[in-house]
Amino acid sequence: MAWRWRALPLLWVLIEGVFSRQWSAWMPQTVSAFRQTCVAIPCNFNFPDDLRPSVVHGIWYYNSPYPKNFPPVVLKSKTNTAHESYTGRTKFVGELQLGNCSLQIDKLSMELQGKYYFRADLGGYNQYTFSEHANLYILEEPFVVPPEEMASGSEAELTCLVPDNCPDMKPTVSWIDIEGLEHHSVYARLEENNAVWTHISTLKFLPSHKNNGQRLGCKVSFRGTDLEYKGFVTMDVKYAPQIVDINSSVETTEGTQVVFVCVVDSNPVSRVMWLKDDSLLKEDFTGNLTLELEYVTYNYDGIYVCAAENEFGRVNKSMGLAVMYAPWKPSVNASIIAVEGEAVTILCNTQGNPDPIISIIKDKQVLNSVIFENELVLEIPAVSHEHDGEYWCTAENQYGHSNSSFNLTVVFSPVVLPESKCTVTKDTVQCMCTVKSNPDPVIVFELPEKNLTISEINPEFVHSQRNGYMVSSILTLQTETGSPPLVFCSASNVYGKKVHELLFQDSNNQIWAKIGPVGAVVVFVILVAFGGYMIKTREKKNITESSSFIQTETSPSHSDGASSKKNLGKIENQFLSVSEKILLGKKQQPPNTDADYANIDFLKRNVKDSFTSTDELTEYAEIRVK
Ligand SMILES: *[C@@H]1O[C@H](CO)[C@@H](O)[C@H](O)[C@H]1NC(C)=O
Ligand SMILES: *[C@@H]1O[C@H](CO)[C@@H](O)[C@H](O)[C@H]1NC(C)=O
Ligand SMILES: *[C@@H]1O[C@H](CO)[C@@H](O)[C@H](O)[C@H]1NC(C)=O
Ligand SMILES: *[C@@H]1O[C@H](CO)[C@@H](O)[C@H](O)[C@H]1NC(C)=O
Ligand SMILES: *[C@@H]1O[C@H](CO)[C@@H](O)[C@H](O)[C@H]1NC(C)=O
Ligand SMILES: *[C@@H]1O[C@H](CO)[C@@H](O)[C@H](O)[C@H]1NC(C)=O
Repeated sequence: MAWRWRALPLLWVLIEGVFSRQWSAWMPQTVSAFRQTCVAIPCNFNFPDDLRPSVVHGIWYYNSPYPKNFPPVVLKSKTNTAHESYTGRTKFVGELQLGNCSLQIDKLSMELQGKYYFRADLGGYNQYTFSEHANLYILEEPFVVPPEEMASGSEAELTCLVPDNCPDMKPTVSWIDIEGLEHHSVYARLEENNAVWTHISTLKFLPSHKNNGQRLGCKVSFRGTDLEYKGFVTMDVKYAPQIVDINSSVETTEGTQVVFVCVVDSNPVSRVMWLKDDSLLKEDFTGNLTLELEYVTYNYDGIYVCAAENEFGRVNKSMGLAVMYAPWKPSVNASIIAVEGEAVTILCNTQGNPDPIISIIKDKQVLNSVIFENELVLEIPAVSHEHDGEYWCTAENQYGHSNSSFNLTVVFSPVVLPESKCTVTKDTVQCMCTVKSNPDPVIVFELPEKNLTISEINPEFVHSQRNGYMVSSILTLQTETGSPPLVFCSASNVYGKKVHELLFQDSNNQIWAKIGPVGAVVVFVILVAFGGYMIKTREKKNITESSSFIQTETSPSHSDGASSKKNLGKIENQFLSVSEKILLGKKQQPPNTDADYANIDFLKRNVKDSFTSTDELTEYAEIRVK
């Protein structure tokens, strides 16, 4: 059903047209022309067939079709009159008799813009005003029509629309300010639409980001006149972001403030980001993103990327920030205990920028060093006691230095030092055995000829001094004539044992030489003899005296003249008890009451000995010498 309602009026018009003509008119709805040029408004009209007018007249009105509204008369053919503003400017250009009501208006001015109505006058009452009318537009510039979107790198087309409806003046169209457009070309054509003509000029080119915001135009001129009409457009060229400015790589020190700027050019505005190690630090939709690092530390060191993106593309640029700092306190092995002969690897590592110079130092001697590294390894294939000590690892660069220390403790079997020897003075023989050892050694003097073994547990004869890993044990014996005894020093700890013969190296050696081996009486002969005498005397002594001997250990040993004599006596007593022990031990005999006492005494001494300070030992030694 719907098609019928639409089709019917059309059918009616066709029938009307063929069989009987009615009042009708045709003219373009709009027609445009430039100011100061002219325009011809095409027009046709019909009237009923049964009217057979002798003469056909017509009137053009401005803005109203009804004469009783007194619209300005544009042109009246009957009298060839017009309103003053049209006088001399208007004319019919077609044959009115043939229904051609086309009107030309010259010297167009802006106030003539408006609606134009035609009224046919066939005489008498046969006058008819058509509701059809033309809208006249007076232009001062051509239309420049930009494309919907202009993107950098894809061809753009701009058109310039120039009405061409003045029979007397033909427009010339050209493009202006198009120098420098890439690959530009211009095409022109004439287009007719409802008897209205338009000159269409097309400009094609390849826009780039540089053309964004650039103004270009279309110029219309008319030959033989100096009329010129120009229309302009400002181009909106879309393009992917470009980073036009970014800091170059920077070097700074810890604690400073650093500001980076990334300047981005794009259309439309981009999302701009600062990234480091793929993590986003800051972003904004802007052309100019600033990254402020208030207090730079070593972990700000790295590559910073400024990235920008819009729907036309993405771009990034990177720059480096180098944060310089003094080396950190080196990390070293915790203190190490190594057994002599073991391989030891010592590692020192740190961090600094630039990479530091690292050294491992012991006793102010550089053992190993590296330049511009973060790590230093010191390898000792087989440690010896000489490697024992405090080590320093130092690291430095131009921003500062730092160091750490650690201790390497080497445990090793005893070493009997060459200075160990025996010396003879007038009435004593002193044998010194100096041993280097860690842990502490047990030093024992062996006199094989006498089947005797004497050590610190016999403090009457042996006393020791410690200095670090050095232990000096001194054996002191009474001198007697005779050949010097054979003395061995045996030093042992858990890591081993050394036995060393102690040689007699002394000017007093000559005494032995003079007296000769026969005359020489070994110290221990005296010792034994003396010991035997003392046992005898001792039987008369009582226990009280012995207890005073014990007190000797704790009593002050400052010796003024009087007390030193007394001390000597006591020392003799001590001598006795040791001799006793030695003798008793040798004989392997069940002890008598005295031996019992002696044993108790030694036990006591033993315990005490291990807590005895070297000072006390030294004092004791002084007394002995006296
Ligand atoms: C009317 O007359 C003008 C001027 O002579 C002519 O250009 C135009 O084609 C005519 N119109 C029609 C419909 O014949
Ligand atoms: C980065 O560049 C900006 C602008 O040129 C400047 O103000 C700033 O100081 C620069 N930053 C550094 C760390 O050099
Ligand atoms: C920067 O651009 C390169 C290629 O142009 C790309 O491979 C990289 O992933 C981009 N980096 C970032 C952080 O966007
Ligand atoms: C010191 O430390 C390094 C690394 O921790 C290790 O390889 C090395 O064995 C250590 N050295 C010693 C003697 O412990
Ligand atoms: C190393 O030993 C010395 C004394 O021998 C000591 O003062 C220092 O603190 C020790 N160092 C370490 C790291 O243990
Ligand atoms: C030492 O003792 C051993 C046995 O223990 C013995 O054979 C030797 O004769 C003794 N020597 C002396 C000099 O007493």
